Amino acid sequence: MEIRLWHELLLPYELAVKEMVIKFKHLKKEHREKELYSPIEQVSGRVKSINSILEKMQRKNISWEELEEKVEDIAGIRIICQFSEDIEKVADIIRKRQDMRVLEIKDYITHMKESGYRSYHMIIAYHVETLEGPREIKAEIQIRTLAMNFWATIEHSLQYKYKGNMPPHVRTRLNNAAQSVLTLDEEMSSVRNEVMDAQNSMVH
Ligand code: GTP
Ligand code: MG
Repeated sequence: MEIRLWHELLLPYELAVKEMVIKFKHLKKEHREKELYSPIEQVSGRVKSINSILEKMQRKNISWEELEEKVEDIAGIRIICQFSEDIEKVADIIRKRQDMRVLEIKDYITHMKESGYRSYHMIIAYHVETLEGPREIKAEIQIRTLAMNFWATIEHSLQYKYKGNMPPHVRTRLNNAAQSVLTLDEEMSSVRNEVMDAQNSMVH
């Protein structure tokens, strides 16, 4: 496909990503202004690169006609939380919003992937207004803790280095590291609970 047409195709996705990032960052600000704890720590977004889209179409045998239906992560939002408990709170906020319609949930928190990957994914429908009129596009929201993000970021860059041929012993070590990340998340939640209990007993 011609590069000009690619950019045209990606335009509404760029708008969607920008809008959603602003909205989630604003939610963090709202919590801060109201002196409430924010389950959202960091927000980022990206539009999938043309090369990654082509690679995915090839890998999953997706035709041009099916592109926007089947490549659900052309628009991608990542929400990072401090604690595992925050993930459900963010998911709840998203479920209740009127401007995002949840199409599909991929819960890799309760069902960790074989690789050791953990994250809560929501595929949503999002409305944008373009020159040609209203459009409904798909977006993938990934919600994970700082620790899960640490693991996923490094595992992803190693996968890239090995180009899909990661030696089994490296796989095993990454799996073990994923277990450590789970333990770390649990320990951080436990520390937080202890601190909150101590605060509550001082108030009462
Ligand atoms: P792709 O993996 O994106 O081709 O799509 P899929 O339909 O198989 O969806 P899946 O839910 O498996 O993955 C969606 C996204 O989650 C990926 O694009 C990655 O960003 C992330 N992801 C899934 N599995 C892993 C993993 O094992 N390691 C890392 N680092 N990220 C993963
Ligand atoms: Mg995958």
